Amino acid sequence: GDKKAAEPEKVLRVGTEPTFAPFEFQKEGSKSYDGFDMDLARAIGKQMGYKVEIVSMGFDALIPALNSGNIDVVAAGMSINEERQKAVTFSEPYYTSGLIVMVNKDNNEVKSVKDLEGKRIACQIGTTGEKNARNVANAKVTAFNTNDEAVMELKNKGVDAIINDSPVVGYYLAQGGNASMKTVGDIMEAEQYGLAVKKGNDKLAGEINKALAELKKNGEYDKIYKTWFGE
Ligand code: ARG
Repeated sequence: GDKKAAEPEKVLRVGTEPTFAPFEFQKEGSKSYDGFDMDLARAIGKQMGYKVEIVSMGFDALIPALNSGNIDVVAAGMSINEERQKAVTFSEPYYTSGLIVMVNKDNNEVKSVKDLEGKRIACQIGTTGEKNARNVANAKVTAFNTNDEAVMELKNKGVDAIINDSPVVGYYLAQGGNASMKTVGDIMEAEQYGLAVKKGNDKLAGEINKALAELKKNGEYDKIYKTWFGE
């Protein structure tokens, strides 16, 4: 019989940088993207009636990709700050985070961020961790494309410390990293994550905010939260 042409599905292209577990990561040998942000982005897309396509790139390439139209949304544990608000439009905050220092377990010299003066610090390119590392007096900062490379460098003792987001460091330690590494000091700076869209695309930001509010109301946000962070 006659087949009715299917309505083409609307696609939402979501950009991310997937070395940021438990927010976005790829299991070894897996092509799919796991994590809190990935589940949240898929749920938001579904709520909005879109099919979600995840696009992977360097963290520092995400905002340029939004502005050139290669992606529609950034879901990458991106902290909302004034500098970025000049370049993109953020959704309502969806997660409260902060930065922390991680060192090798046998490092008894670095007890807080104050002890990082003149030390070697690793971080990820384009992150708030990099910005904070560059504010440490006389520090030698190495910014890596991925967080995995930064961790490797710390393990090899090529650097003395890493500055990265506290929930990401916490997850790494809990997954076995605590055999050789630890955090020191308090959370350096409170930050909130937002989804980003092209600057001025208030229509899309509004749709995202509406979907996010709906997911918070219907329990879906809590369900995703529990999957990745426990209660
Ligand atoms: N929250 C930090 C920032 O906004 C780090 C985000 C890194 N995200 C990632 N997917 N690698 O700069």
